[in-house]
Amino acid sequence: MSINVKQLAAEKAVEYVEDGMKVGLGTGSTAYWAIRKLGERVSEGLKITAVATSRASEEQARELGIPLVAFGDIDSLDLTIDGADELDSSLQLIKGGGGALLREKIVASNSTRMIVIADEGKVVSTLGKFPLPVEIVPFAWEWTVAELAKLGCQPELRRSGEELYRTDNGNYIADCRFEAIEAAPKLALTIQNIPGVVDHGLFIGIAAMAIVGKLDGSIEIIEAQPKN
Ligand code: A5P
Repeated sequence: MSINVKQLAAEKAVEYVEDGMKVGLGTGSTAYWAIRKLGERVSEGLKITAVATSRASEEQARELGIPLVAFGDIDSLDLTIDGADELDSSLQLIKGGGGALLREKIVASNSTRMIVIADEGKVVSTLGKFPLPVEIVPFAWEWTVAELAKLGCQPELRRSGEELYRTDNGNYIADCRFEAIEAAPKLALTIQNIPGVVDHGLFIGIAAMAIVGKLDGSIEIIEAQPKN
C-alpha cells in the first residue's frame, strides 16, 4: 500500500492543535488532510474556532462541523497549518499554487505560529523551480507584468480554462518563472514595491516549523532558527 505523504505530514501537524485555540486553515491538497483530521478531532470534542484562507477550505470546514469565524471577528490566531509549493531549510516558502496566497499570508502573519506541511518533493535547496505566484490587480495588468519581467523572470498570467484565473479577491495571478531565487528577502521587497502588485507567494520569516512527510513513512521536522 502506498503512503499518502501529504496526509502523514498533515495529521502530525494537527497534533499541535489544543483546546481553545484559534486556528488558521490553509488551502490546497495537503491542507485538505489537515482540515479533515481537525474535523475528526472536533467531532470527538476538540473545542476550537477556525479561520479559512479560501472558499474551498471554508466549505470543507463547514461540512465537517468545524466552527468558523470571520478574520475580522478575532484579533489574532494561535496556529495556522498550511501547505507550500516549495520550501528551503531556512523555512522560506513559495506559496500560491492554489491561488490563495494573499489570504494565506494575512492569516499566517497574524498567527503566533505557522506550521507548514509538505511532502518531501517540496523541499529544495534554492527556491524558484516552482513559478512564483504574484497576485496583481486587473487594472493595467500588462504594465505590472512587464515590470515583473524586468526582474529576470518569465511571467505568465494564470488561466482557468478559457478565462483568466481570478483569485477569491477578484485579482489576477502572474506565475513568474525565475528558475532560481538566490536572495528571496530582497526579491520579496522589490516585487512588493511594484504598483499593481497586491502580494506575492514568497513567505519569508513567517513559518515556525515544517513537517515533511517522506515516502519511507517517516516525518522530518524543520524548525526556524531563532533570530539574532
Ligand atoms: C494555495 O494557494 C497554496 O499556497 C498551497 O498551500 C500550496 O500551493 C500547496 O498546495 P498543495 O498542498 O496542494 O501542494
